[in-house]
Amino acid sequence: MIPAEPNPILITCAKGLADLLRAEVEALGYEIDSQHETGVIITAGWRDVMRLNLHLRTAFNVLWLLKSFDCRSPKRLYNRVQTVPWERLIPPDGYLSVVSKVETPSVDNSMFANVRVKDAIVDRMNEIVGRRPDSGPERTGIVVNLYWKDHRAWLYLNTSGIKLSDRSYRKLPHDAPMQESLAAGVMLATGYDGTQPLLCPMCGSGTLAIEAALIAAGRAPGLLRTHFAFTQLKTHDEEVWQQLRREAQKLSRKKRPSAPIMASDLSAGAVQAARKNAMTAGVEHRIEFRICDFAETPVPDQPGLIVMNPEYGKRLGETEVLKETYRRIGDFFKQRCPGWTGYVFTGNLELAKQIGLSASRRTPFWNAEIECRLLKFELYRGSQRTPKGVATS
Ligand SMILES: C[S@@+](CC[C@H](N)C(=O)[O-])C[C@H]1O[C@@H](n2cnc3c(N)ncnc32)[C@H](O)[C@@H]1O
Repeated sequence: MIPAEPNPILITCAKGLADLLRAEVEALGYEIDSQHETGVIITAGWRDVMRLNLHLRTAFNVLWLLKSFDCRSPKRLYNRVQTVPWERLIPPDGYLSVVSKVETPSVDNSMFANVRVKDAIVDRMNEIVGRRPDSGPERTGIVVNLYWKDHRAWLYLNTSGIKLSDRSYRKLPHDAPMQESLAAGVMLATGYDGTQPLLCPMCGSGTLAIEAALIAAGRAPGLLRTHFAFTQLKTHDEEVWQQLRREAQKLSRKKRPSAPIMASDLSAGAVQAARKNAMTAGVEHRIEFRICDFAETPVPDQPGLIVMNPEYGKRLGETEVLKETYRRIGDFFKQRCPGWTGYVFTGNLELAKQIGLSASRRTPFWNAEIECRLLKFELYRGSQRTPKGVATS
């Protein structure tokens, strides 16, 4: 059923990560057919689907296009979905979940579309094999995605299932953890490759430091996961999958040791969580942990990158307290880090002005619904505080 020949593949990501995802996909040797706000499309084969699931750091899902069709009613949707030979893909004792995004005048809610797609699949399986898979919202079995826009529908096999951003190492999240794919995107945007010393002085649950350590080790993030929806398919080729995993493991062993990575936080609980998460990710030996105020971070002589993710503050009282934190970040950069490159990831540009240094680059990102910026500060020796309010947005 799954053709050996190349097929359209949509790789999705969070808003703000598409350029980085594109670069990752190209670095793996694929040509991009088109790029969208939240993903890229390539044409490749089934082995590539597994490879992409294993290696991509900034992606959410790898979606294999089953068919696209003109669709102007729920009845048409049901009929077209029924033409796919599902019995060759889904084990009758499997588990099915459907995820829909609808922007069409034909239906006004995605739940209804989910049910129509699910009914079409299980009705066909009942007719042909006399049994149907269980279905529900969990993404632990076979996952089918529908995108229905205006009068066109696209039906995909979601080969990842649970989002690839869930690497499964973060057992202890602590406060306001960054999604793993976003943290990887932030580190890739800084140009980090493991050769520069790295300080993460507000590490929280350690996501930035852990993603950095995975990049430095050349370790495919998918090696950490045990679940991929494609392994649930009747057509799954375990031998090819294990061969791809072995190749990825070899690549990761080949990588040279990285420059030091230091992760610290004022909160002992955060550092404990970060250490535990790094252990689960298998990179704790690559990260030095410390409990301290960021201003007390030991700064090595050889300059590198400092990446900080302070709280953004939503309530007024918090904002007032945070003004002081952001002001102190500026002092820390200026007084303790000459020669380094500082990065601040924040969703509050008013607070960022308190840093008092002018950013040489402002890369837009989205953290869920919050528009954020990764601000880059070149901390030249002797760099001067700029007057308050100089544009950092
Ligand atoms: C937004 S969270 C960072 C989340 C982190 N990126 C993650 O993925 O888990 C901000 C962190 O800064 C820490 N923090 C706040 N003030 C600090 C200070 N003065 N020195 C060091 N860490 C501080 C907090 O304890 C919190 O863990």
